[in-house]
Amino acid sequence: MSNFDLSGKTVLITGIAKGIGRQTALELSALGAQVVGTDIDVKGAEETQALLREQSGKSLVFAQDVTQAADWKRVIESIAKECGRLDVLINNAGIILNKPFVMTSFEDYQRVQRINVDSVWLGCQAALPLLTESAKTSKGSSIVNLSSVYGQVAGPMHAAYCASKGAVRMLTKAMAVEFARMKTGIRVNSVHPGPTNTDLGRSGLTDAVKIGLIPSYEAGLEMVLRQFPMGRMGEVDDISSVIAFLASDASKFMTGTELIIDGGFTVI
Ligand SMILES: NC(=O)c1ccc[n+]([C@@H]2O[C@H](COP(=O)([O-])OP(=O)(O)OC[C@H]3O[C@@H](n4cnc5c(N)ncnc54)[C@H](O)[C@@H]3O)[C@@H](O)[C@H]2O)c1
Repeated sequence: MSNFDLSGKTVLITGIAKGIGRQTALELSALGAQVVGTDIDVKGAEETQALLREQSGKSLVFAQDVTQAADWKRVIESIAKECGRLDVLINNAGIILNKPFVMTSFEDYQRVQRINVDSVWLGCQAALPLLTESAKTSKGSSIVNLSSVYGQVAGPMHAAYCASKGAVRMLTKAMAVEFARMKTGIRVNSVHPGPTNTDLGRSGLTDAVKIGLIPSYEAGLEMVLRQFPMGRMGEVDDISSVIAFLASDASKFMTGTELIIDGGFTVI
């Protein structure tokens, strides 16, 4: 069996109602994984489940607010009961805030940290025992955390978001070292997408139009695309296939690594 094959693996993905989370659920399911998806947007999550069923993947969907420890406990207990194991945790759910620092309230800032960072902390703590147990009967378990190029380089109007994604990047590395030294059998890596064609990825431009910073979405997009050596934004499958690699045994000697998926955006 190829190390890229995900057959026999149970994968938990947060934020599957749309965007990168939905595409990741579909791709990992196509590669053979049993997908468990969660989202605060139940209707969107059920739509994703219908798409998973169309491609005949085994899937379970739960409502979950990733900022709530009780929700994490319930989801992990359900996975233990229904699937008996958990091999991969993908902390994908997240939000962006496109606001200048001076206009960002402390409450705005805290909300971004709760959804983007506290969720990763809570999820990893809740899943650790089951991931450790499952690693004993496989080539190892894997956690993939969604950071961003804004966890590496700064962008105007994104102080709260940059702070959150920088924290995800370093939390990933700190857990990677501890989990390896503790012989848990769990690898922890982060992915760093550049601007990607989702509601979240497009919102920087739509919000800039709203406050009059740019005349139109199209004008803003043209400006942004000039910063991409490859001349286009990311698409969701550009990101999901890298997540699939980190979820699989093909990356079994990688931990604490950050994979940038940005068409060269941060190189220049
Ligand atoms: N799109 C981009 O340009 C881009 C770039 C870099 C990183 N990312 C990161 O990738 C991840 C996915 O982004 P996306 O572009 O697919 O966004 P999206 O807005 O399309 O989807 C995000 C999903 O997260 C869910 N979510 C939000 N808050 C939640 C909560 N409290 N509990 C549970 N679910 C919640 C939403 O309902 C939604 O389904 C995010 O962590 C984001 O920061 C995206």
